[in-house]
Amino acid sequence: MAFDVETVRKDFPILSREVHGVPLVYLDSANSAQKPQVVIDAEADLYANHYANVARAVHTLGSEVTNAYEGARDKVAAFLNAPSRDEIIFTRNITEALNLLAYSLSNATTFPGAERFRLVPGDEIVVTEMEHHSNIVPWQLLAQRTGATLRFIPIDASGPNSGRLVESAIDDVINERTKVVSFVYQSNALGTINPVKRIAARAKAVGAISIVDAAQAAPHLPLDVQDLGADFVAFTGHKLYGPTGVGVLWGRYELLAQLPPFLGGGEMIETVDVGGSTFAVPPHRFEAGTPMIAQAVALGTAVDYVTAIGMPEIRQHERSLTAYALDGLLTIDGLRIIGPATAIDRGATISFTLPGIHPHDVAQLLDEQGIAVRAGHHCARPVCVRYGIPATTRASFGVYTTTDEIDALVRGVDTVREIFT
Ligand code: ALA
Repeated sequence: MAFDVETVRKDFPILSREVHGVPLVYLDSANSAQKPQVVIDAEADLYANHYANVARAVHTLGSEVTNAYEGARDKVAAFLNAPSRDEIIFTRNITEALNLLAYSLSNATTFPGAERFRLVPGDEIVVTEMEHHSNIVPWQLLAQRTGATLRFIPIDASGPNSGRLVESAIDDVINERTKVVSFVYQSNALGTINPVKRIAARAKAVGAISIVDAAQAAPHLPLDVQDLGADFVAFTGHKLYGPTGVGVLWGRYELLAQLPPFLGGGEMIETVDVGGSTFAVPPHRFEAGTPMIAQAVALGTAVDYVTAIGMPEIRQHERSLTAYALDGLLTIDGLRIIGPATAIDRGATISFTLPGIHPHDVAQLLDEQGIAVRAGHHCARPVCVRYGIPATTRASFGVYTTTDEIDALVRGVDTVREIFT
């Protein structure tokens, strides 16, 4: 069926509410996306009709809930085109997925068979300047624990490549000393879509592990982990129209099978003795304790939901919105786009500044007009430092965003500008 945004909007109950007496215009999907009724129902249905713990009970409910939880794993595997369902690990969010990797790598110091993951002084970990803090801080901590050095691929902050990685730096920063390369697919602060295959291929060429933060890509682009060529890809459920409290880490099986555990506890073991323990095979090795059962099941429903609409259709819809929004915003006197100023290789997240007006004031005055945007450094402070600004205002779109809403944004921002001049 052809994509029809008005039909999609009817699936999201919150979109019919008002704020400050006017219809809500929700342009903060990069922060967290709204939920379709089917996702809300899936979580409630699990608790109302099937709830028990997973993988522990032999009774009927135990088997129903285990099937639902493991069924969600199948859905996520298909969504990512993963070669095996055993490569899908449920985490609490993407922050936990990235920390899982960083801690598992440092646990390699003493773990038998994990020599390839050991980091020592002189080794390098590479990220980019456009990372979310969740893809910087875990690596800073890993560098502190191991003596390795953290390096950054810089971004251009002006000219036609504004908001893009400095291409010529990629091969220099990723070199024979590099052991880990962790980078964002689509920047939450700039909207930039990075050349994932190019960077993953460079990491592979120097023998480094590559990790892709797909938090902002998974809701907007078709994701095919086999095509990307990276070793690990992570995303979070709540930005993909799913619940909070659940994320996903995909990893190549042969790497997961050698990687030491992160958290210890029930269900992640093979056997436990007073003298020591041995560990389950992936994915359960990395899922200690009772998992986020209802959230994972509802994430499976969210995956069904976007798959039924079609990820290519969602991408096309949002690409048109982005071009439309950039055209509209750039008519506003003095407005500066922080990030790529054209719709090429960028997603539906647009950061901007207005001269002499603090981004928080812009966001507050937009809220009074019913328009929800985010202001701040978007947990990607090095981006603001690179641009020499304290913060931006950011509008971000989703499957339910309309051109009328973008018109409202452009009018709203222009009104804010007028108030301050
Ligand atoms: N929630 C964060 C954002 O708004 C990641 O971009």
